[in-house]
Amino acid sequence: MMMPERLQWFAQARYGLFMHWGLYSVLGRGEWVFNRERWEMTDYAKLADQFNAEHYDPKTWAMLARGAGMRYAVLTSKHHEGFCLWDSKTCTFNATNSAAKRDLFGEYVQAFRDAGLKVGVYYSLGDWYNPDWARGFQGDEAAYQRFMDYTRALLTELLTDYGKIDILWYDLPQCYTALQWQAVDLNHMLRNLQPDIIINNRAYTSEDFGTPEQHVTAAPVGRLWESCMTLNGHWGYSPYDTEYKSPKDIAVNLATVASGGGNLLLNVGPDPQGRIPDQAQQILSQVGDWLKRNGESIYDASDRHSLSFNLWGPVSVQGNHLYLHLQNYWGNELIVGGLIPNVLEAKVLSTGQPLTVTRRNHQTILTDLPAQSPDDIMTVIKLTLDAKPEHDISRVIGAADIFPQLIN
Ligand code: GLC
Repeated sequence: MMMPERLQWFAQARYGLFMHWGLYSVLGRGEWVFNRERWEMTDYAKLADQFNAEHYDPKTWAMLARGAGMRYAVLTSKHHEGFCLWDSKTCTFNATNSAAKRDLFGEYVQAFRDAGLKVGVYYSLGDWYNPDWARGFQGDEAAYQRFMDYTRALLTELLTDYGKIDILWYDLPQCYTALQWQAVDLNHMLRNLQPDIIINNRAYTSEDFGTPEQHVTAAPVGRLWESCMTLNGHWGYSPYDTEYKSPKDIAVNLATVASGGGNLLLNVGPDPQGRIPDQAQQILSQVGDWLKRNGESIYDASDRHSLSFNLWGPVSVQGNHLYLHLQNYWGNELIVGGLIPNVLEAKVLSTGQPLTVTRRNHQTILTDLPAQSPDDIMTVIKLTLDAKPEHDISRVIGAADIFPQLIN
Protein backbone atom coordinates (compact mmCIF):
# COMPACT_ATOMS: atom_id res chain seq x y z
CA MET A 1 0.00 0.00 0.00
CA MET A 2 1.27 3.48 -0.85
CA MET A 3 2.11 5.61 2.13
CA PRO A 4 -0.19 8.67 2.40
CA GLU A 5 1.59 11.80 1.25
CA ARG A 6 1.30 13.57 4.61
CA LEU A 7 3.50 10.87 6.19
CA GLN A 8 6.25 10.83 3.62
CA TRP A 9 8.49 13.52 5.05
CA PHE A 10 8.39 11.76 8.44
CA ALA A 11 9.32 8.41 6.91
CA GLN A 12 12.49 10.02 5.59
CA ALA A 13 13.23 12.53 8.33
CA ARG A 14 15.45 10.17 10.35
CA TYR A 15 16.61 12.62 13.02
CA GLY A 16 14.86 15.20 15.19
CA LEU A 17 15.42 17.29 18.32
CA PHE A 18 13.29 16.74 21.42
CA MET A 19 13.25 19.47 24.05
CA HIS A 20 11.89 19.17 27.59
CA TRP A 21 11.52 22.65 29.01
CA GLY A 22 9.28 23.84 31.82
CA LEU A 23 9.25 24.93 35.47
CA TYR A 24 11.07 21.74 36.45
CA SER A 25 14.06 23.23 34.61
CA VAL A 26 14.38 25.73 37.48
CA LEU A 27 15.03 22.92 39.96
CA GLY A 28 17.33 21.04 37.58
CA ARG A 29 16.45 17.54 38.77
CA GLY A 30 14.44 16.30 35.84
CA GLU A 31 10.80 16.72 34.83
CA TRP A 32 9.32 14.34 37.44
CA VAL A 33 10.63 16.42 40.37
CA PHE A 34 7.16 17.67 41.44
CA ASN A 35 5.88 14.15 41.77
CA ARG A 36 8.97 12.42 43.17
CA GLU A 37 9.78 15.06 45.77
CA ARG A 38 6.10 15.37 46.74
CA TRP A 39 5.82 19.11 46.18
CA GLU A 40 2.63 21.00 47.02
CA MET A 41 1.38 22.72 43.89
CA THR A 42 1.08 26.04 45.71
CA ASP A 43 4.87 25.94 46.36
CA TYR A 44 5.78 24.49 43.00
CA ALA A 45 3.77 27.05 41.03
CA LYS A 46 5.96 29.81 42.51
CA LEU A 47 8.83 28.52 40.37
CA ALA A 48 7.13 30.46 37.58
CA ASP A 49 8.61 33.62 39.14
CA GLN A 50 12.10 32.26 38.48
CA PHE A 51 11.43 30.90 35.03
CA ASN A 52 12.65 33.97 33.15
CA ALA A 53 13.91 32.53 29.84
CA GLU A 54 16.19 35.57 29.63
CA HIS A 55 18.62 33.93 27.20
CA TYR A 56 15.96 32.15 25.17
CA ASP A 57 16.55 32.63 21.46
CA PRO A 58 14.88 29.79 19.58
CA LYS A 59 16.68 30.82 16.40
CA THR A 60 19.89 29.54 17.97
CA TRP A 61 18.12 26.30 18.93
CA ALA A 62 16.93 25.92 15.36
CA MET A 63 20.43 26.62 14.02
CA LEU A 64 21.84 24.03 16.38
CA ALA A 65 19.29 21.48 15.19
CA ARG A 66 20.04 22.22 11.56
CA GLY A 67 23.79 22.06 12.05
CA ALA A 68 23.27 18.76 13.86
CA GLY A 69 21.62 17.33 10.75
CA MET A 70 18.14 17.21 12.28
CA ARG A 71 15.04 17.76 10.21
CA TYR A 72 12.35 18.31 12.79
CA ALA A 73 11.78 19.13 16.43
CA VAL A 74 9.33 18.51 19.24
CA LEU A 75 8.98 20.84 22.22
CA THR A 76 7.06 20.17 25.45
CA SER A 77 4.22 22.69 25.24
CA LYS A 78 2.92 21.30 28.53
CA HIS A 79 4.55 18.53 30.51
CA HIS A 80 2.92 16.59 33.36
CA GLU A 81 3.36 19.60 35.67
CA GLY A 82 0.62 21.38 33.71
CA PHE A 83 2.55 24.60 33.00
CA CYS A 84 1.79 25.87 29.48
CA LEU A 85 4.67 27.32 27.46
CA TRP A 86 2.21 29.31 25.38
CA ASP A 87 -0.12 32.22 25.98
CA SER A 88 -3.11 30.06 26.83
CA LYS A 89 -6.54 31.60 27.17
CA THR A 90 -7.76 28.53 29.03
CA CYS A 91 -4.94 27.99 31.53
CA THR A 92 -3.45 30.94 33.41
CA PHE A 93 -0.54 28.79 34.64
CA ASN A 94 1.46 29.75 31.58
CA ALA A 95 4.61 31.36 30.23
CA THR A 96 3.13 34.82 29.68
CA ASN A 97 2.25 34.93 33.38
CA SER A 98 5.71 33.68 34.42
CA ALA A 99 8.88 35.75 34.78
CA ALA A 100 9.48 35.13 31.06
CA LYS A 101 6.34 37.13 30.13
CA ARG A 102 6.48 35.70 26.59
CA ASP A 103 4.75 33.14 24.45
CA LEU A 104 7.71 30.77 24.39
CA PHE A 105 5.99 28.11 22.35
CA GLY A 106 4.92 30.57 19.65
CA GLU A 107 8.49 31.82 19.29
CA TYR A 108 9.74 28.25 18.94
CA VAL A 109 7.23 27.44 16.21
CA GLN A 110 8.16 30.57 14.26
CA ALA A 111 11.92 30.10 14.55
CA PHE A 112 11.95 26.42 13.63
CA ARG A 113 9.53 26.88 10.78
CA ASP A 114 11.64 29.77 9.44
CA ALA A 115 14.70 27.51 9.61
CA GLY A 116 12.96 24.98 7.37
CA LEU A 117 12.44 22.41 10.12
CA LYS A 118 9.20 20.55 10.74
CA VAL A 119 7.57 21.54 14.00
CA GLY A 120 6.14 19.20 16.61
CA VAL A 121 4.23 19.78 19.82
CA TYR A 122 4.55 17.51 22.83
CA TYR A 123 1.43 17.53 24.98
CA SER A 124 1.02 15.66 28.25
CA LEU A 125 -2.55 14.45 28.72
CA GLY A 126 -1.98 13.93 32.42
CA ASP A 127 -1.81 17.20 34.33
CA TRP A 128 -0.69 17.63 37.96
CA TYR A 129 -1.82 21.24 38.05
CA ASN A 130 -5.38 20.66 36.99
CA PRO A 131 -7.33 19.93 40.20
CA ASP A 132 -9.74 17.54 38.49
CA TRP A 133 -6.97 15.36 37.11
CA ALA A 134 -4.82 15.70 40.23
CA ARG A 135 -7.64 14.48 42.49
CA GLY A 136 -8.65 11.68 40.15
CA PHE A 137 -12.24 11.66 38.95
CA GLN A 138 -13.38 8.80 41.20
CA GLY A 139 -16.76 8.55 39.55
CA ASP A 140 -17.22 12.32 39.54
CA GLU A 141 -18.72 12.68 36.08
CA ALA A 142 -18.75 16.50 36.20
CA ALA A 143 -15.03 16.60 37.00
CA TYR A 144 -14.28 14.19 34.19
CA GLN A 145 -16.29 16.23 31.67
CA ARG A 146 -14.61 19.42 32.86
CA PHE A 147 -11.18 17.89 32.36
CA MET A 148 -12.02 16.62 28.88
CA ASP A 149 -13.27 20.11 27.96
CA TYR A 150 -10.02 21.51 29.31
CA THR A 151 -7.97 19.03 27.26
CA ARG A 152 -9.89 19.82 24.07
CA ALA A 153 -9.59 23.55 24.66
CA LEU A 154 -5.82 23.47 25.19
CA LEU A 155 -5.16 21.25 22.20
CA THR A 156 -7.44 23.40 20.07
CA GLU A 157 -5.43 26.49 21.01
CA LEU A 158 -2.17 24.80 20.12
CA LEU A 159 -3.43 23.55 16.78
CA THR A 160 -5.28 26.72 15.81
CA ASP A 161 -3.18 29.69 16.86
CA TYR A 162 0.27 28.82 15.50
CA GLY A 163 -0.18 27.93 11.85
CA LYS A 164 0.88 24.55 10.60
CA ILE A 165 1.91 22.03 13.25
CA ASP A 166 3.51 18.90 11.85
CA ILE A 167 3.47 16.48 14.78
CA LEU A 168 1.29 16.00 17.85
CA TRP A 169 3.30 14.06 20.41
CA TYR A 170 1.03 12.93 23.23
CA ASP A 171 2.32 11.61 26.51
CA LEU A 172 1.12 10.35 29.92
CA PRO A 173 -2.12 8.66 28.98
CA GLN A 174 -1.58 6.36 32.01
CA CYS A 175 -4.51 6.01 34.44
CA TYR A 176 -7.07 6.19 31.63
CA THR A 177 -7.93 4.14 28.57
CA ALA A 178 -8.26 5.32 24.97
CA LEU A 179 -11.99 5.17 25.54
CA GLN A 180 -11.81 7.41 28.60
CA TRP A 181 -9.59 9.85 26.74
CA GLN A 182 -12.14 9.75 23.92
CA ALA A 183 -9.00 9.50 21.82
CA VAL A 184 -10.71 8.58 18.58
CA ASP A 185 -13.04 11.58 18.68
CA LEU A 186 -10.36 13.86 20.03
CA ASN A 187 -7.95 13.04 17.21
CA HIS A 188 -10.72 13.28 14.67
CA MET A 189 -11.44 16.79 15.86
CA LEU A 190 -7.75 17.74 15.84
CA ARG A 191 -7.19 16.34 12.36
CA ASN A 192 -9.97 18.64 11.17
CA LEU A 193 -7.89 21.55 12.47
CA GLN A 194 -4.63 20.21 10.99
CA PRO A 195 -5.37 17.75 8.20
CA ASP A 196 -1.70 16.83 7.61
CA ILE A 197 -0.71 16.42 11.25
CA ILE A 198 1.14 13.27 12.27
CA ILE A 199 0.04 11.89 15.65
CA ASN A 200 1.87 9.42 17.90
CA ASN A 201 0.40 6.43 19.71
CA ARG A 202 0.42 7.79 23.24
CA ALA A 203 -3.27 8.52 23.61
CA TYR A 204 -3.59 4.74 23.39
CA THR A 205 -4.76 4.62 19.80
CA SER A 206 -2.20 3.45 17.26
CA GLU A 207 -2.45 6.52 14.97
CA ASP A 208 0.58 7.26 12.76
CA PHE A 209 3.69 6.06 14.56
CA GLY A 210 5.11 4.03 17.43
CA THR A 211 7.35 5.51 20.12
CA PRO A 212 9.97 3.15 21.58
CA GLU A 213 11.58 4.99 24.48
CA GLN A 214 15.29 4.84 25.34
CA HIS A 215 15.91 1.98 22.95
CA VAL A 216 15.96 1.38 19.21
CA THR A 217 13.52 -1.31 18.21
CA ALA A 218 12.13 -1.33 14.71
CA ALA A 219 8.39 -1.65 14.20
CA PRO A 220 7.05 -4.22 11.73
CA VAL A 221 7.48 -3.29 8.06
CA GLY A 222 4.91 -0.70 7.03
CA ARG A 223 4.55 0.89 10.48
CA LEU A 224 6.25 4.23 11.10
CA TRP A 225 8.26 4.51 14.30
CA GLU A 226 10.51 6.89 16.16
CA SER A 227 12.86 6.10 19.04
CA CYS A 228 13.02 8.88 21.58
CA MET A 229 16.16 9.02 23.65
CA THR A 230 17.89 11.26 26.19
CA LEU A 231 21.35 12.66 25.44
CA ASN A 232 22.39 12.34 29.09
CA GLY A 233 20.22 10.32 31.50
CA HIS A 234 17.39 12.86 31.89
CA TRP A 235 14.72 14.55 29.80
CA GLY A 236 14.43 17.78 31.78
CA TYR A 237 17.43 20.01 32.63
CA SER A 238 19.81 18.19 35.01
CA PRO A 239 23.13 20.01 35.34
CA TYR A 240 24.55 17.39 37.69
CA ASP A 241 24.05 14.66 35.13
CA THR A 242 27.09 14.94 32.90
CA GLU A 243 26.97 11.35 31.69
CA TYR A 244 26.30 12.17 28.09
CA LYS A 245 26.19 9.73 25.23
CA SER A 246 29.21 10.15 22.98
CA PRO A 247 28.97 11.30 19.35
CA LYS A 248 29.78 7.71 18.45
CA ASP A 249 26.87 6.39 20.57
CA ILE A 250 24.54 8.72 18.68
CA ALA A 251 26.00 7.76 15.30
CA VAL A 252 25.51 4.07 16.14
CA ASN A 253 21.92 4.78 17.16
CA LEU A 254 21.31 6.67 13.94
CA ALA A 255 22.70 3.81 11.88
CA THR A 256 20.55 1.32 13.78
CA VAL A 257 17.50 3.51 13.30
CA ALA A 258 18.23 3.85 9.56
CA SER A 259 18.64 0.10 9.21
CA GLY A 260 15.08 -0.30 10.51
CA GLY A 261 13.65 2.62 8.53
CA GLY A 262 12.81 4.65 11.64
CA ASN A 263 13.61 8.01 13.22
CA LEU A 264 15.63 9.13 16.23
CA LEU A 265 14.18 11.92 18.37
CA LEU A 266 17.10 12.96 20.54
CA ASN A 267 16.41 15.00 23.66
CA VAL A 268 18.08 17.97 25.32
CA GLY A 269 16.93 19.81 28.45
CA PRO A 270 17.42 23.59 28.22
CA ASP A 271 18.08 25.53 31.45
CA PRO A 272 15.47 27.94 32.89
CA GLN A 273 17.14 30.84 31.11
CA GLY A 274 16.64 29.05 27.82
CA ARG A 275 20.13 27.77 27.07
CA ILE A 276 20.88 24.29 25.81
CA PRO A 277 23.85 23.01 27.88
CA ASP A 278 27.23 23.49 26.16
CA GLN A 279 28.20 19.85 26.40
CA ALA A 280 24.97 18.84 24.65
CA GLN A 281 25.57 21.42 21.94
CA GLN A 282 29.08 20.15 21.30
CA ILE A 283 27.97 16.55 20.97
CA LEU A 284 25.15 17.49 18.62
CA SER A 285 27.49 19.54 16.44
CA GLN A 286 30.05 16.73 16.26
CA VAL A 287 27.35 14.30 15.16
CA GLY A 288 26.24 16.92 12.63
CA ASP A 289 29.76 17.03 11.20
CA TRP A 290 29.83 13.23 11.05
CA LEU A 291 26.53 13.34 9.15
CA LYS A 292 27.99 15.82 6.68
CA ARG A 293 30.64 13.24 5.90
CA ASN A 294 28.48 10.13 6.13
CA GLY A 295 24.83 11.22 5.92
CA GLU A 296 24.21 9.18 2.78
CA SER A 297 24.27 6.01 4.87
CA ILE A 298 21.69 7.43 7.29
CA TYR A 299 19.25 9.63 5.39
CA ASP A 300 19.17 7.74 2.11
CA ALA A 301 19.49 4.14 3.23
CA SER A 302 16.39 2.86 4.97
CA ASP A 303 15.48 -0.31 3.07
CA ARG A 304 14.49 -3.01 5.51
CA HIS A 305 16.90 -5.98 5.57
CA SER A 306 18.20 -8.68 7.87
CA LEU A 307 21.97 -8.25 7.58
CA SER A 308 22.71 -7.94 11.25
CA PHE A 309 24.97 -10.96 11.59
CA ASN A 310 28.48 -9.45 11.76
CA LEU A 311 31.29 -8.29 14.02
CA TRP A 312 31.49 -4.60 13.05
CA GLY A 313 28.12 -2.94 13.70
CA PRO A 314 24.91 -1.73 12.06
CA VAL A 315 24.30 -2.05 8.33
CA SER A 316 22.00 0.13 6.25
CA VAL A 317 20.78 -0.58 2.74
CA GLN A 318 19.50 1.34 -0.24
CA GLY A 319 18.81 -0.74 -3.33
CA ASN A 320 22.06 -2.45 -4.28
CA HIS A 321 24.10 -0.29 -1.91
CA LEU A 322 25.22 -1.57 1.42
CA TYR A 323 26.65 0.65 4.17
CA LEU A 324 28.76 -0.94 6.87
CA HIS A 325 29.04 1.16 10.02
CA LEU A 326 32.27 0.18 11.70
CA GLN A 327 31.30 0.58 15.34
CA ASN A 328 34.14 -1.90 15.85
CA TYR A 329 37.11 -1.07 13.68
CA TRP A 330 39.29 -4.10 12.87
CA GLY A 331 42.23 -2.51 11.04
CA ASN A 332 43.36 -3.17 7.46
CA GLU A 333 41.05 -6.06 6.67
CA LEU A 334 37.31 -6.56 6.98
CA ILE A 335 35.62 -9.86 6.21
CA VAL A 336 31.97 -9.92 5.27
CA GLY A 337 30.69 -13.44 5.81
CA GLY A 338 28.02 -15.02 3.64
CA LEU A 339 27.29 -12.10 1.33
CA ILE A 340 25.66 -13.56 -1.79
CA PRO A 341 25.93 -10.81 -4.47
CA ASN A 342 29.28 -9.69 -5.85
CA VAL A 343 30.81 -6.38 -4.91
CA LEU A 344 31.24 -4.03 -7.87
CA GLU A 345 32.80 -1.25 -5.85
CA ALA A 346 33.97 -0.78 -2.27
CA LYS A 347 35.09 2.47 -0.69
CA VAL A 348 35.39 4.46 2.49
CA LEU A 349 32.28 6.65 2.34
CA SER A 350 33.71 9.85 3.79
CA THR A 351 37.05 9.90 1.93
CA GLY A 352 36.17 7.97 -1.23
CA GLN A 353 39.24 5.79 -0.72
CA PRO A 354 38.77 2.63 -2.83
CA LEU A 355 39.17 -0.77 -1.18
CA THR A 356 40.31 -4.03 -2.71
CA VAL A 357 37.76 -6.83 -2.78
CA THR A 358 38.48 -10.54 -3.07
CA ARG A 359 36.34 -13.61 -2.46
CA ARG A 360 37.27 -16.80 -0.67
CA ASN A 361 34.47 -19.33 -0.47
CA HIS A 362 31.77 -17.67 1.62
CA GLN A 363 33.82 -14.66 2.51
CA THR A 364 33.97 -11.26 0.87
CA ILE A 365 37.30 -9.79 1.95
CA LEU A 366 37.95 -6.06 1.93
CA THR A 367 41.57 -4.99 2.20
CA ASP A 368 43.57 -1.73 2.07
CA LEU A 369 41.63 -0.16 4.91
CA PRO A 370 43.71 2.29 6.96
CA ALA A 371 45.19 0.72 10.10
CA GLN A 372 43.35 3.29 12.24
CA SER A 373 39.72 4.27 11.71
CA PRO A 374 39.85 7.13 9.19
CA ASP A 375 36.77 8.74 10.75
CA ASP A 376 37.34 9.66 14.37
CA ILE A 377 33.67 9.05 15.22
CA MET A 378 32.78 6.04 13.08
CA THR A 379 33.94 4.94 9.64
CA VAL A 380 31.37 3.85 7.08
CA ILE A 381 32.17 1.53 4.17
CA LYS A 382 29.99 1.71 1.08
CA LEU A 383 29.62 -1.42 -1.04
CA THR A 384 27.93 -1.36 -4.42
CA LEU A 385 26.67 -4.82 -5.34
CA ASP A 386 25.47 -6.46 -8.53
CA ALA A 387 22.14 -7.32 -6.86
CA LYS A 388 20.17 -6.56 -3.72
CA PRO A 389 22.11 -7.63 -0.65
CA GLU A 390 21.33 -11.11 0.60
CA HIS A 391 23.04 -13.04 3.31
CA ASP A 392 23.64 -16.79 3.29
CA ILE A 393 23.59 -17.93 6.89
CA SER A 394 23.36 -21.66 6.18
CA ARG A 395 26.99 -22.21 7.12
CA VAL A 396 26.77 -20.44 10.42
CA ILE A 397 27.38 -23.32 12.76
CA GLY A 398 24.58 -23.55 15.26
CA ALA A 399 22.75 -20.60 13.76
CA ALA A 400 19.42 -22.33 14.04
CA ASP A 401 19.92 -22.89 17.75
CA ILE A 402 21.68 -19.72 18.73
CA PHE A 403 19.96 -17.25 16.44
CA PRO A 404 16.51 -18.63 15.71
CA GLN A 405 15.37 -15.15 14.64
CA LEU A 406 17.70 -15.40 11.64
CA ILE A 407 15.71 -18.19 10.05
CA ASN A 408 12.20 -17.17 11.02
C1 GLC B 1 9.35 9.27 29.98
C2 GLC B 1 9.32 10.33 31.06
C3 GLC B 1 8.58 11.56 30.61
C4 GLC B 1 9.11 12.01 29.26
C5 GLC B 1 8.96 10.90 28.27
C6 GLC B 1 9.45 11.22 26.90
O1 GLC B 1 8.09 8.67 29.88
O2 GLC B 1 8.75 9.82 32.23
O3 GLC B 1 8.69 12.55 31.54
O4 GLC B 1 8.42 13.14 28.84
O5 GLC B 1 9.69 9.80 28.74
O6 GLC B 1 9.21 10.13 26.05
